[in-house]
Parts: sequence; C-alpha cells; structure tokens
Amino acid sequence: MVTKLWRRRKDAEPGAVGPLDSTRIPLHIAIIMDGNGRWAQKRGLPRTFGHKAGAEVLREILTDAAEIGVKVLTAYAFSTENWRRPSEEVSFLMELFSTYLDNEVDRLVEKQVRLRFIGNRQRLGAELQRRIESAEQKTAQGTGIELNLAVDYGGRAEIVHAARTLAQDVLDKQLCIDEIDEAQLAKRLFTGNQPDPDLLIRPGGDMRISNFLLWQLAYAELWVTDTLWPDFTPRHFRQAIFAYQQRERRFGGLKTSK
Ligand code: IPE
Ligand code: IPE
Ligand code: MG
Repeated sequence: MVTKLWRRRKDAEPGAVGPLDSTRIPLHIAIIMDGNGRWAQKRGLPRTFGHKAGAEVLREILTDAAEIGVKVLTAYAFSTENWRRPSEEVSFLMELFSTYLDNEVDRLVEKQVRLRFIGNRQRLGAELQRRIESAEQKTAQGTGIELNLAVDYGGRAEIVHAARTLAQDVLDKQLCIDEIDEAQLAKRLFTGNQPDPDLLIRPGGDMRISNFLLWQLAYAELWVTDTLWPDFTPRHFRQAIFAYQQRERRFGGLKTSK
C-alpha cells in the first residue's frame, strides 16, 4: 500500500523513488540532522526556529523508519564541537533536548521505541541528565526500533573512551594485549552490539562526516541532499533508501557475478 503511494508521486516530484525492496532494507541508518540554522535564516528567523522545526522532523522520520522496518536509527543532534557556538544557541538546544524528552517519552514507550543517548553526557546539565536516564529506563523494554540520539557526541572522543576502557581492562587483567582486536574495540563504543550503519544520510548539502560515527561508518553508503533538515520529509528518506538499494556494496571484495 505504502509502495503504491510512493510510485504514484514519482513523476510529480524530482528525485527517483520507486518501490522499496523489502529484502534490502538497511538495518541501521545514521542521519546528520544538518541545515536548521540556514533554514531559519532563509526565512528571516533566528536560527533557533530551525532547531525547533528540526526536532519535529525527527519524530516523522522515526515513525517512517519503524514502518519501513529499519532496526536502528542514529540521529546526530549535537557534536562535541557544537559547544563552540554562541552560548544562547547552546542553551536553547539543551532546553530543546529536555523538552523533546518530556514531550516524546510517552509516545516512544507506546511505539515500542528503545531510546539511547550516545555521547559524553557528563557535560550536560543535571536536569537534562536526569531526564535522559529516566527516558532510557522507561523505553528500555521497547521491542521496536532503536533510536540512538547523539548529543555531545564525537567519533574521536568515542574511540578515545573505548581505548581507555581497553587499557583499564588490561590493567585489571580482564584482557591480554593480544586479545585486543576490532571486535573488542567495537563493543566498547556507545553503539555496543548494534550493527554498523548501512546508510548515512546528510541533509544540508555538506559532503563531510563532521566527527560522526568515525569507526562505525567504515563501509556505510553515503547519501547527501541539499534539502535542509527542517524540509526533509519521509519522501526524501525513502529516496535515500531507494538509492541505497541500487548500490553495489563490495566491502573491498569484487563485484558479484550475475
Ligand atoms: C544542525 O543544524 C543542528 C546542530 C548542529 C545543532 P545547524 O545549526 O548546523 O544548521 P546550519 O548548518 O548552520 O544551517
Ligand atoms: C554536524 O553539523 C553536527 C550535527 C548536525 C549535530 P555541523 O553543522 O556542526 O557540522 P559542520 O560544522 O558544518 O561540519
Ligand atoms: Mg550545520
């Protein structure tokens, strides 16, 4: 049914999107929610309006991702470098994360979403930390899609953190140096035993990773659109998945013979 809807709109809007192949749905999709400030500025509004609009888009995309059958969605909301922004913008964002949790947590529980914050939460305010813990606890039994919200997240910081825990485990004689391998490091990342992202979506048009999931994105397919995050719709989301399904993933091997 959903498939038909997308097919019908195919000619009406730019960008190819056809019926999705249900056997090739990406298990894990990562999104850099970028372009909020530009979206607001284009409308003569303060940047904060863009952040507010962006939070609403996340709700829609999460619903669509669950419907499509995506298992994990990781959304980049605030990087370790975003502290460099003016303090008013940072405070607004922190407040927005708090409100988002307050408004969304019941809906997340109802929809069986399992929410996890990934990042360095010690630098967040005490109240926000409390709400994060409470939201994680309330959604911990969710059996549906997993939502990782990356706040004060940096890929480098995450790898450093994993390296420290490896060092500590060696000191504690829980692990020998020879046992340190990719699997041992990967399980110490915030994404723990989740699969690596198959697809990275970046709205806002910038062709860079901006310190997001540096380890986990090793073989992700990248899809960038000039559309700004507050204008991003489930149609764009499906367009990205459709494009992903046309790609050939080789993981360093050779083209599979037909
Ligand atoms: C992404 O939008 C949100 C955050 C980084 C917090 P931006 O605020 O970076 O928006 P642009 O890129 O300036 O348009
Ligand atoms: C990346 O966007 C971080 C988030 C969307 C949360 P930025 O706007 O911070 O990235 P750069 O500075 O353009 O690389
Ligand atoms: Mg940006």
